[in-house]
Amino acid sequence: MVDVILGLQWGDEGKGKIVDFFAKDYDVIARFQGGPNAGHTLYVGDKKVVLHQIPSGIFHEDKTNLIGNGVVLDAVTLKRECDSVASFGVDYKKNLYVSERTHLILPTHRALDKASELSKGNDKIGSTLKGIGPAYMDKTGRNGLRVGDLLDKSFTTQYIKLRMKHQRLLDNYGFQEDISAWEEEFFDALEFLRSLKIVNGEYFINEKIGNGQRILAEGAQGSMLDVDFGTFPFVTSSNTVTAGVCSGLGIAPQKIKEVIGITKAYCTRVGSGPFPTELVDETGDFLRNAGNEFGSTTGRPRRCGWIDGVALQFACMINGVTQLVMTKADILDGLSELKVCHGYKINGEEKNFVPFQMNKVDIEPQYKTFEGWKTDITAVKDYNSMPAAMNTYIDYLDNLIKVPVKYISNGPGREQIISV
Ligand code: GDP
Ligand code: IMO
Ligand code: MG
Repeated sequence: MVDVILGLQWGDEGKGKIVDFFAKDYDVIARFQGGPNAGHTLYVGDKKVVLHQIPSGIFHEDKTNLIGNGVVLDAVTLKRECDSVASFGVDYKKNLYVSERTHLILPTHRALDKASELSKGNDKIGSTLKGIGPAYMDKTGRNGLRVGDLLDKSFTTQYIKLRMKHQRLLDNYGFQEDISAWEEEFFDALEFLRSLKIVNGEYFINEKIGNGQRILAEGAQGSMLDVDFGTFPFVTSSNTVTAGVCSGLGIAPQKIKEVIGITKAYCTRVGSGPFPTELVDETGDFLRNAGNEFGSTTGRPRRCGWIDGVALQFACMINGVTQLVMTKADILDGLSELKVCHGYKINGEEKNFVPFQMNKVDIEPQYKTFEGWKTDITAVKDYNSMPAAMNTYIDYLDNLIKVPVKYISNGPGREQIISV
């Protein structure tokens, strides 16, 4: 049996914390897409950890963690991260597995990402520059190198061939930077990667499903960054939605049961692209400061705005979300008034769908206004003790999105979560 946890907005919904919270109920936690563009934060006691490549179940001693074939893997980041989790006493040699079909991010992918973004000028995507786009392009272009290739003696020859191809592209861009230092640490990290447990991910996971084990698939990025259904071209290069679980782990659709969708109580986006409910005023500044909305991977300030019910309904439809988790509800504690977007006015007409090219139409969000609760909720332990104004806000969202909010997260700590 497989459950999925994924983000419904533009990323950073709090997936790391929520996966870490739910991990106790599962045997295997598996990442199915994305790469080190992800930054998933969780707390081990009072220590903050940000995971980029390793699944967020790694701090549970007896759980298996799998990096699936749908992921693009940066060995350098992985090595650094393994050192970091080991400093907390985690035995990653025992608990971490990597699928042999997982594609590798090469130093030249990072260089190509940078060169491509520079060439776009004002139209840049705002990529994390981790090489994600170029690595997925080599996957679909049938050129990429995979983790399993590391065990083949022709690996270096294959690498040199691909590197030469990349160099020609970099020359075309006029890219001048010397990447030999990146290559040195890359080869060093490949040795490390070879020492990990490399498995045939699809047999590995299906055998466990067959034995009645419980699998939790952990999404990265968010549904509005999906390469097919997000705000293209301002998206990432993978399928971040539930469908990505099937292709990114080798799991059949009927094995998937619960799809747990995470939304913040408001909304953020980092990087370029449309964001209809964005607030470029002091309420936006308040959300950024109170919510510490600065990228976990790049440190960039996140754009902030009201929760977008139209985009959420769309994301729930595409993903088949069965329950919602609302994070960062505590950040709204300081506001006397809250808004929920329930429609988009486009050319004077109210619509309830996400248009083909959000960035090319003028969207006027339609809001319903709510009274804030103006109470510190960070220590609340049960839903009945939540302020009445919050119940009103949650009830409205339940009705609008038509998927129940089952959990409310009221702080970054593992225990700061309330069942509704
Ligand atoms: P992810 O990429 O979806 O895992 O999210 P990030 O880790 O990039 O960003 C979420 C941030 O919000 C992290 O700093 C978390 O520690 C923090 N966080 C998660 N849930 C809550 C919450 O309910 N309240 C508060 N105040 N912070 C939270
Ligand atoms: P988590 O898993 C927020 C954004 C980038 C950029 C666009 C493309 O932590 O939620 P890419 O590096 O994939 O080429 O960038 O997607 N982006 C994210 N935004 N959270 C993420 O991951 C993101 N991963 C990519 O800012 O706009
Ligand atoms: Mg993040």
